[in-house]
Amino acid sequence: MTPSDVKATLSFSDGSPSMDLPIYKGSIGPDVIDIRKLYGQTGKFTYDPGFLSTASCNSTITYIDGDKGELLYRGYPIEQLAQNCDFLETCHLLLYGDLPDEAQKKDFTARVSNHTMVNEQMQFFLRGFRRDAHPMAIMTGLVGALSAFYHDSTDINNPVHREIAAIRLIAKMPTLVSMAYKYTQGQPYMYPRNKLSYAANFMHLMFANPCEEYEQNDVLVRAMDRIFILHADHEQNASTSTVRLCGSSGTNPFAAIAAGVACLWGPAHGGANEAALNMLGDIQKMGGVEKIGEFIKQVKDKNSTVKLMGFGHRVYKNYDPRAKLMRETCHEVLGALGLQNDPLFKLAMALEKIALEDDYFVSRKLYPNVDFYSGIVQRAIGIPVPLFTAIFALARTVGWIAQLNEMIGDPEYKIGRPRQLYVGSVARDVKPITQR
Ligand code: SDX
Repeated sequence: MTPSDVKATLSFSDGSPSMDLPIYKGSIGPDVIDIRKLYGQTGKFTYDPGFLSTASCNSTITYIDGDKGELLYRGYPIEQLAQNCDFLETCHLLLYGDLPDEAQKKDFTARVSNHTMVNEQMQFFLRGFRRDAHPMAIMTGLVGALSAFYHDSTDINNPVHREIAAIRLIAKMPTLVSMAYKYTQGQPYMYPRNKLSYAANFMHLMFANPCEEYEQNDVLVRAMDRIFILHADHEQNASTSTVRLCGSSGTNPFAAIAAGVACLWGPAHGGANEAALNMLGDIQKMGGVEKIGEFIKQVKDKNSTVKLMGFGHRVYKNYDPRAKLMRETCHEVLGALGLQNDPLFKLAMALEKIALEDDYFVSRKLYPNVDFYSGIVQRAIGIPVPLFTAIFALARTVGWIAQLNEMIGDPEYKIGRPRQLYVGSVARDVKPITQR
């Protein structure tokens, strides 16, 4: 953080003493006004529900320019990473700050591969769930349960523990997600194949069965790997902020990541990919492309709670670069599968075109986000709709860990403890029940 020559001066119209607030500059993006001394000097809090104007931390990991529709992981544009790297290279970049060279990639891949299995006891947790349990309910439980097994990597303040917990979580998420899936299908769990790439191993875990050889489809493996890259990190979004706040109490990394899984599940956040595909299915049932106008009318109706799922973003006020890349992947995957006339994909592109010409969306700068097309790709790959957000959680685990470790590694970090504007009852006495 570089102190700016410019200061912010806070003055009060009632003549209370004014105060100068330092301003800090980042390497790119908006400056910040340091208000850490505000309460101590004025007895006043700032007020920013939803944190629309609040920077919770300084970070070197991911940068988003919402106006340009730009996303950088450690300075590398997402388009270049999606084109030239695979997910494990991206994990190395997010965790350690740079892309691996060949030797580093070999070593990192070997370390992750050595941790892909989960303790055999883990399977008994699943038996407690109904077979029709939502995969995110299962994942919230399983990820938290990891902290019951790995006592040699639960001390978040020990850098060695943080490192091994990071590798374990990245390695085991595909295994856990596939177990959540197989359990709902009544199929036996598959064991990881460590000779396969990360994405190919996930496809094996998901779609192989003990009775026959599973044949990999390279286009689908590449698409899965790209989906992981595009979802890996995204600055201080709701689930990442949850992981940081949870981890700031000193809890173990598995519990902090489980909190992130729980937050991501919400339809306003990671649950939007499942909601977006269900929305496309509903429009299809209404009559498809011809009914888009009627659906858009519902979205624009203030009295309806209908939203165009997969559209809009707190930061992007331009096209989400991930949505563009996801739409490209749609074309590749559907083409490779001979599904280029997939009705939902055609419906999604028609819906996007109509929305982007409608002033309601244009005036509010609502564009497709990462969740608008990701469901179509995942459905084409054979991923069931309820599992979409679990895949998002699998991919985002590396981002959550990188952000958590960055916070814990900062000697200045403190437990997060926001304050409030209290608007409730002033002090009053309890009356005996006969007088209430
Ligand atoms: C993710 O933060 C991240 O980085 C998240 C994420 C990541 O990688 O971690 O990018 C992943 O969560 C993507 C977003 C997925 N969610 C959805 O697609 C759900 C639909 N989108 C909305 O719920 C909404 O756009 C949010 C939650 C994403 C953003 O909400 P904001 O920033 O609080 O914006 P807002 O709700 O104040 O909306 C501003 C206006 C409102 O209308 P007015 O009150 O001005 O009349 O736009 C409207 C909203 O009603 N609006 C929408 C809309 N999104 C916003 N109207 C219709 N459909 C939508 N999708």
